[in-house]
Amino acid sequence: MANYKFSAAVPEGTVDTVGEILKVAASPNVISFAGGLPAPELFPVNELKQATDQVYDTSAESALQYTNSEGFKKLREILAKRMAIRGVDCTADNIAITTGSQQSIDLISKMFINRGDTIIVEKPTYMSALDVFHTYGANVVGVDMDDQGMKMDALEAALRQNPETKFIYTVPTFQNPTGRTMPVARRQKMVELAKEYDVVIIEDDPYGQLRFAGEPVPAVKSFDTDGRVFYLSTFSKTLTPGLRTGWVVADPDFIKQFTIIKQSADLHSDNVSQQAIADFLTDFDIDEHIAKIREVYGKRQRLMMECIERDFPVGVKYSHPEGGLFIWVEVPGNVNTQALFDQCIKNNVAFVPGEPFFPGEVIPGTFRLNFSNMSEDKIKEGIARLGKAIKEFQG
Ligand SMILES: Cc1ncc(COP(=O)(O)O)c(C=O)c1O
Repeated sequence: MANYKFSAAVPEGTVDTVGEILKVAASPNVISFAGGLPAPELFPVNELKQATDQVYDTSAESALQYTNSEGFKKLREILAKRMAIRGVDCTADNIAITTGSQQSIDLISKMFINRGDTIIVEKPTYMSALDVFHTYGANVVGVDMDDQGMKMDALEAALRQNPETKFIYTVPTFQNPTGRTMPVARRQKMVELAKEYDVVIIEDDPYGQLRFAGEPVPAVKSFDTDGRVFYLSTFSKTLTPGLRTGWVVADPDFIKQFTIIKQSADLHSDNVSQQAIADFLTDFDIDEHIAKIREVYGKRQRLMMECIERDFPVGVKYSHPEGGLFIWVEVPGNVNTQALFDQCIKNNVAFVPGEPFFPGEVIPGTFRLNFSNMSEDKIKEGIARLGKAIKEFQG
C-alpha cells in the first residue's frame, strides 16, 4: 500500500472504539441502550413525502439547481420566527442553513481554532464535537459539571488559567451525554463570563424542544447582547436526521463570514431537503408533531427511571433529565468501565461507556443510556439485566 502522508487532522491509528462498542451492542440477543437515535416510528413519513412531492411538482427546476450558501430564504424566515420558542429575537439575516449541527460545529471550529488553541467544554461532552476539536488540533479543557450542568466557578477558573481561550462549547439543555440542563442563572453567568474574558460561546441545542417535564428555559443565546453566542440547532431530533438539515443563529456579519467558509466545504446544503422542510413547516403543524415526540419520550424516560430505581443497586447515581434522549449513570468506586461493559454484554445488555465523552481525565464507572429508541418491554427487561450485571460486577 502507498505511504499516505496524511495531515495532522487525521488521527493516528484506526481503532474505532465507539464503532467496536456499537458492533458488540448490535448483536441480536443484546438489548442496547448504546445508540443515540430518535424513534423512527415517529418520523412524519407521509407528511414529508407530501412536502417533497410538492417541491418536485411546483419548483423542481429551482430545487434541483445549485443555490446560495446561506440557505433557502423561506426556510430561514420560518426559522427566524420559530427562534422565539427559545427566547431568541432574530431575522432571516441572522440564520445560515447547514448540513446538520455536526457541520455547524465543524465550520465554526475551522473559523476559530489554530493548532494549539484552547477551547473549553463541559466534562463530559458530546463525543463527536470532541472529534472535531481534535481534528483542528485544539487544546480541549474540560470544566466540571453538577446536576445543573457546567459549574460557573470552575468555568471562571478555566478562563482565568486560559486567557487566550477561543470559545466555550456547551450543550446546555438536555445535554448529550448527561441529560442535564443549565438553569437561567448559570446561562446568564456564562454570558457575563464570556464577555469579561472576551471569548465567544457555541451553544449546541439539538434537544431544547424535546422537554417532557419541568419549565422551559430560554437559550443561552437569548441573553446575548453583543453577538457573542453562536446558536446551533437541527431538525435531526424533531423531524428526521436523514435530511441532514440544521441551522446557525448569529450576528449578520458573522453569518456572512460563515457562509464563505460553508461555500468552500459543500457550496450549499441539500436544496430539495431545505425546500421540502420549508413546505412541511408551512403545511403541517410541527409543534403538534413535537408534542407527540415529547409524550412518547417522556413515557419511556419515566419508565426507565422507575426501572432504574427498582433494579439498580443502592449507591449508583443517575441523572434525572427533563427532556432529550439520555440518562447518565455513575457506578461508585474506582470502577473499570470496560470490565463493567463486558459483564453487561454477558447479560445481553449494552450502553456507551463514559470514556469517549471526556476531553481528558475520565470519571470511572460512568456510562450513557438512551431511552428514545426503545420499546417499553425492552426498557423493563434491559434495565433488569443491567441491574443484575452491576450487582454481579460489584460482587
Ligand atoms: C449535542 C449534539 N450536537 C450535534 C449533533 C449532530 O446533529 P446533526 O444530526 O444535526 O448533525 C448531535 C447528534 O446526536 C448531538 O447530540
